[in-house]
Amino acid sequence: MSDAPQVVWHTQSVTLQQRTQRNGHKPAVLWFTGLSGSGKSTIANIVDRMLFERGCQSFLLDGDNVRHGLCAGPNLLEPVYGAEFSKRFGLGFGQQDREENIRRVGAITELFASAGFICLTAFVSPYRRDRELVRSCVDKQNGGGTFVEVFVDTPLEVCIARDPKGLYQQAIEGKIKNFTGISDPYEAPETPELHLRSEISSADMLAKQVIDYLSKHGVIT
Ligand code: ADX
Repeated sequence: MSDAPQVVWHTQSVTLQQRTQRNGHKPAVLWFTGLSGSGKSTIANIVDRMLFERGCQSFLLDGDNVRHGLCAGPNLLEPVYGAEFSKRFGLGFGQQDREENIRRVGAITELFASAGFICLTAFVSPYRRDRELVRSCVDKQNGGGTFVEVFVDTPLEVCIARDPKGLYQQAIEGKIKNFTGISDPYEAPETPELHLRSEISSADMLAKQVIDYLSKHGVIT
């Protein structure tokens, strides 16, 4: 909702119910959260592929990709938009920048759900409050139960050992500041809809758990 009184919300002619009926499934936001290297993107990509193959309208918003565009950092913006703009709108990894990252992405998931999609996201999203704010907006707009929090619970030591991008090593050496798990907090979900343990099961098995959840809760048939 806008705080500018001159901006009014328009009701649209195609309803969510009509979109849902045509898609043959309900909308949902599958919000994957977990440490960098926990397996969020890998599992979410498999789920997205499985949904696509069933004919569902699904789309994955991936943290690293979104930070190339909608949530680009100051360094990416500066050559085109200049210093002042980049400082104002570019996002880094401080607490407030992450809050804005998740707010923007949350608003996009709200739109995808309103369009009838099953929208998947893979963001570290380390702050409980930021995730809960997205949950309340999505559920308010699209009905309770639309937001599904998927905790990819992989121990920090496992993520450090995997270190697919070499970032943990740099964070441990102090070359990257505010790195989640090393020099920045990660607030684990307390009651996620799904709790996946990637050091016990394969990514394929965990993706299947997500699909089973969607079937059991009537999102897909
Ligand atoms: S979030 O915290 O704002 O949700 P997001 O998921 O968009 O983070 O981006 C995380 C990705 O950015 C990580 O997978 C990692 O590749 C990279 N990254 C770079 N710097 C950091 C940092 N300081 N903390 C966490 N991830 C970082």
